[in-house]
Amino acid sequence: MKKLLSLLLTLTMGFTLAACGNSGSATSSSPASVEDSTSLESASQTEGSSAAESTAAETGAGSHSLIVYFSWSGNTGSVANEIQAQTGADIFEIIPAEPYTDDYDTLLDLAQEEQAGNARPAIAETVPNFEQYDVVYLGYPIWWGDMPMILYTFLDGYEFAGKTIAPFVTSGGSGFSGTIGTIESMEPDAAVTDGLSLGSSAAGDPADAVSEWLGSIGTEQ
Ligand SMILES: Cc1cc2nc3c(=O)[nH]c(=O)nc-3n(C[C@H](O)[C@H](O)[C@H](O)COP(=O)(O)O)c2cc1C
Repeated sequence: MKKLLSLLLTLTMGFTLAACGNSGSATSSSPASVEDSTSLESASQTEGSSAAESTAAETGAGSHSLIVYFSWSGNTGSVANEIQAQTGADIFEIIPAEPYTDDYDTLLDLAQEEQAGNARPAIAETVPNFEQYDVVYLGYPIWWGDMPMILYTFLDGYEFAGKTIAPFVTSGGSGFSGTIGTIESMEPDAAVTDGLSLGSSAAGDPADAVSEWLGSIGTEQ
């Protein structure tokens, strides 16, 4: 059964991942894919679970908004950069202390093992002055129907009480897969907005979706 699930997942994701590559690029090409979707998802209506390049925090004193994201093959990074362009928020990429493999098949197994072991992979750097932010845009790809376990590391590691979390995901078609509910239960003293969910290829041209989402959640007023 597990093998069958693994095969189905691999087939589902094959198009999108093959198209965007796995080299940590911040942009991706845009293949047509029936799996692609763009949607806003209500926090109260949640669904039923790197080779990263570069960067640390580009943070500055005084900003009230921070974009935090993890991206293995660049799709979520593309959306994060668009949010940054439209909001001027500070931005922090979650980079694993121990880089993930570049090999997609190996990563599939590794991600599954991390999930099964409830792992907390270490993050290379910390966010300076996390307490200064009122709004945290939190972005991640869906891995095996859940957040990558390194997102759990991040959520465990910072104090979110009183903050607003605005979640965004990219996926091969699963959408949030219940992860908004997970964030709400991990951070009960934060407000969680409606999320932005983009399919892998829609993530290559996210400007309109990001603009609509930002307008609907009102975080930049
Ligand atoms: C280990 C792994 C597991 C994945 N699991 C799912 C999944 O359960 N559902 C889904 O729709 N897409 C899944 N995907 C596809 C990614 O969510 C999708 O390609 C995403 O846009 C990648 O974002 P990134 O480029 O920011 O890493 C998976 C990809 C990987 C590498």
